[in-house]
Amino acid sequence: MKKVSLTGIKPTGTPHIGNYLGAIKPAIELAREYKAYYFIADYHALTTVKSGPEVQRMSYEVACTWLALGLNPDEVIFFRQSDIPELFELNWILSCSTAKGLLNRAHAYKNLVDKNVEAGRTPDDGVNAGVFNYPVLMAADILMFGSDVVPVGLDQKQHVEIARDIALAVNKDYGKKLLNLPEPLIREDVMTVPGLDGRKMSKNYGNTIPIFLPPNELRKRVMRIVTDSKQPSDPKDPENDNIFAIYRHFASPEAISTVRGEYERGGKSYAEMKQQLFELLEETFSEARVRYDELMSNKPHVTELLLQGAEKARAISRPLMNQIRKAVGAGPA
Ligand code: TRP
Repeated sequence: MKKVSLTGIKPTGTPHIGNYLGAIKPAIELAREYKAYYFIADYHALTTVKSGPEVQRMSYEVACTWLALGLNPDEVIFFRQSDIPELFELNWILSCSTAKGLLNRAHAYKNLVDKNVEAGRTPDDGVNAGVFNYPVLMAADILMFGSDVVPVGLDQKQHVEIARDIALAVNKDYGKKLLNLPEPLIREDVMTVPGLDGRKMSKNYGNTIPIFLPPNELRKRVMRIVTDSKQPSDPKDPENDNIFAIYRHFASPEAISTVRGEYERGGKSYAEMKQQLFELLEETFSEARVRYDELMSNKPHVTELLLQGAEKARAISRPLMNQIRKAVGAGPA
């Protein structure tokens, strides 16, 4: 039997090329080897986004992005979290086997508390209980489908470890192996794709290059990449340039070594290099952008695909949930 790979995508920002390299591309590749469950974690977005239309819009953007970039819904079980009611039932049962202290130590919650304390506010000021319980819902996502590996960024590693701890606690409380133990799968090599300003590309820094910008906007975005003030004729250090740092993730080894040579000899301007990067991004994404635009203009089709995915997912979640309900004594004997 194939092992299970599962990951959730929180619909809280327009997908950018850092997401593509760090999450989307590796996850789609992984789906060849594993039985893959990938889903839009729309309920997780509610801890921060309080607008229905915004959650809807972002959910479609994310779904269409993954589909346009090659996720095959016949091979990957691709769905929306909110279409799986069993997750929320499992969520409660898991929370009753979760040590509260485990959640106190979760980084995201702890950071908010630390910030409050530093600023002289009460520890939980402005913190909703969704933030506190976030790792439990994420554990429900992970454990419901028997995940073996969970491909995530480093920032989510602790959440997968918490899911594992919760699975151990449930199995212990009910004296049987109800839940499979997951492992985080972190891709070290693509972890940091730099943004326009050289810091990690992140919507929090406003330094992203969205994957499917129209060409004229994509070009403008690339032209905004921050460089030093070397003149065209000056030799340049490829290891210390933001344009090259992005370029190398997309170009062939030959193209990379050509550019290295041009930089080191001098004579190539940053403006030329930006144009070259723009053209490479166009080449990489223009076909997928056509598919993306088609999907975005056909939401009923995408909804249907996600609902079909949810049905496949529920073929797994319903029986597991029945087993768990029995184990905890819910409903008739
Ligand atoms: N918390 C993840 C993030 O912010 C999204 C997520 C929700 C997730 N449920 C998941 C990731 C289950 C992996 C597995 O990116």
